[in-house]
Amino acid sequence: MKKNIRKTKFLFLGLLLALASCSNSKTIKLDVSFAVSNANQYIIDNKDSVPSDYRNTYHLNAPIGWINDPNGFSEYNGKYNLFYQYNPYQGVWGPMHWGHQSTKDFIKWDLEDVALAPDMDYDSVGCFSGTAIEEDGKIYLAYTAASEKQNQALAYSYGGITFKKLDKLLIDGNDLPEGYSNSDFRDPKIFKRDNKFYIICGNKAPGSKHIIMFEAENIEGPYKYSGDIYSRNDLTGIFECPDLINIENKDILIASPQGIKDDYFYNYQNGDSCVYLVGNLSTKTNKFYKESNLDLEEFDKGFSFYAPQTLKTKDERFILIAWMRSWSEPNTTEHLGWCGAMTLPRELTLKDNHLYQAPVREINNYLKDKKTYNDVTIENDLINLDDFKGTTSKISFEIDVNDMKSGKAGIELYKNSTSKTKIYYDKEKESVVIDRMNSGSLYDGMRYAKINPINGKIKLEIFLDVNSLEVFINDGYYTMTANIYAAKDADNVSLFVENSKAKFINLEKYNILVK
Ligand code: FRU
Repeated sequence: MKKNIRKTKFLFLGLLLALASCSNSKTIKLDVSFAVSNANQYIIDNKDSVPSDYRNTYHLNAPIGWINDPNGFSEYNGKYNLFYQYNPYQGVWGPMHWGHQSTKDFIKWDLEDVALAPDMDYDSVGCFSGTAIEEDGKIYLAYTAASEKQNQALAYSYGGITFKKLDKLLIDGNDLPEGYSNSDFRDPKIFKRDNKFYIICGNKAPGSKHIIMFEAENIEGPYKYSGDIYSRNDLTGIFECPDLINIENKDILIASPQGIKDDYFYNYQNGDSCVYLVGNLSTKTNKFYKESNLDLEEFDKGFSFYAPQTLKTKDERFILIAWMRSWSEPNTTEHLGWCGAMTLPRELTLKDNHLYQAPVREINNYLKDKKTYNDVTIENDLINLDDFKGTTSKISFEIDVNDMKSGKAGIELYKNSTSKTKIYYDKEKESVVIDRMNSGSLYDGMRYAKINPINGKIKLEIFLDVNSLEVFINDGYYTMTANIYAAKDADNVSLFVENSKAKFINLEKYNILVK
C-alpha cells in the first residue's frame, strides 16, 4: 500500500515536472547590473507620482518616463513580450534602456523588469532598437549598442526577465566594409532561415541608403557581411528599424525611412515614415526582389505611427505594433513625467499584395455598452450623437457616398466648445481625411488617405483612447493614427455633411473598459 502511494506520488511529481517543462522555458535569474536595478527601483519609487492626465487606458504606456520604438516583439515562455525604447528617468528621449511588458491577450499588459540598460563600454550612449529570437530555450535580444559609434550586440535570458549581455560585440561598427557608416548603423532584425542566422540593419554608404545583411552559422556569431538587400537614394536619413515577415509564402520587408520625399498630399507627410514592400529575400544572392510593378507602400496615413514590429504567433497570426507617435510630433506630456504609447496590436493579412490591418481580435472581449443609431441622411447640416459621447470607445459606421457630387461627410470627435477633431470623406480629393487643425493642444494639420469606396461606401472603425485615434478604413485597407491632446470635457460626438448630402449607416458605439 505504502509503496503504491509512493509510486503515485512520483508519477504525480513526474507529471508536474513534464508539464512545467512543456509550458515554460527554464527560468534562471541572472545577476543584473547596477544600471538595471537602479532603473527598476526608480520606477517602483516614482511611478505613482505620474498623474493620470492623457494616459491611455487600453494602449500600452510606460508607468513613468519616455518610450519610443517597440523592440523584441516575441512570444516566449507562454506569453507575448514587448520590449521598448525607454528612458525611465524623464518624459523625453535620453539614455535608452529596454523596458518590458508582457501580455496574454495583446490588450492587458503586465509590467516586467527593465531588460537592458546602458551599462557596458560598448553601449554607453544607449541600448537602441532591435529584435528578439528564441533559440535553445533562451530568448536573445539583438540590439544596437550605441557608443561613439553604432554596433550590434546580443543579450540572452533563461525565462525572459533578467538578461546577460555577451562580453563582446556581435558586429563591431569598425568592421563594416569600406565606405559604410558606423554612425548610422542600427536596428538589427535577427532571424533564422535554413539553419543559419541573419541580421538586417539600416546603414548608409556614399550615394545610397541601404538595408544591409549579415549571416552566421551560430546565433552568437561570428557574423559576416553578406550584402545590401535593398537600397534607395531618395531619403535624407537611413532606413530605421527594418523588419521581415513571411506571409502566404511572400517576404514582406518593413522599414521606417527617414525623410522620404513626400508627394504633397497623400504619402509620407510625417517626414519619417513607415513602409513595406512585398517580394522575396534571396539568401543566395543576398537581394530582396520586389514583385514587379510594386513599390514601397506606406503603412499608416496618419500623424502618429512609427517603427512598427511584427510577430508571427504560434496560432499563426501576424501581429503588428508600432510606436503611436512620430518624431515630428511635439511632446505634449513631458511636464507630466511621461511620453509615448504603442498602437493597438493589429492583425495583418495579405490580399492582392496589399497588407490589410485589423484591430487585434481580443479587443472585442472588452467592448461594452453597445449603442446604435438608425441610418440617417444629412444635407449640409450637423447632428449631435449624445449616445456616442466619450473618449474610450469604438465608433463605427459607413458613409454611403453615392449621392455625393462634392463636399465632405464625416464625424467630429474629442469635441467641446473650443476644439474638435474631424474625420471625413472628401469627395473631391477622394480621400478620408483627419483634420487636426483645431484639436486641443495639437493643431498642426491634415492627413489624407486616398481610397476608393466599396460598393459606394466608405467604412470607418474608429478607436478613441483618451488622447488617441486609430481609424481603420474599409476593413483595414488603410489605417490612420493620430494623437489628440484635447481638454477633459472634449467628449462630444457629431456627424456632419458640408456642401453635399450623404447617408450614414450601421452606426455603432461601444465603450472599451480594460483597467
Ligand atoms: C527610431 C530610432 C532607431 C533607434 C532608436 C533610438 O525611432 O531612431 O533608429 O535605434 O530610435 O531610440
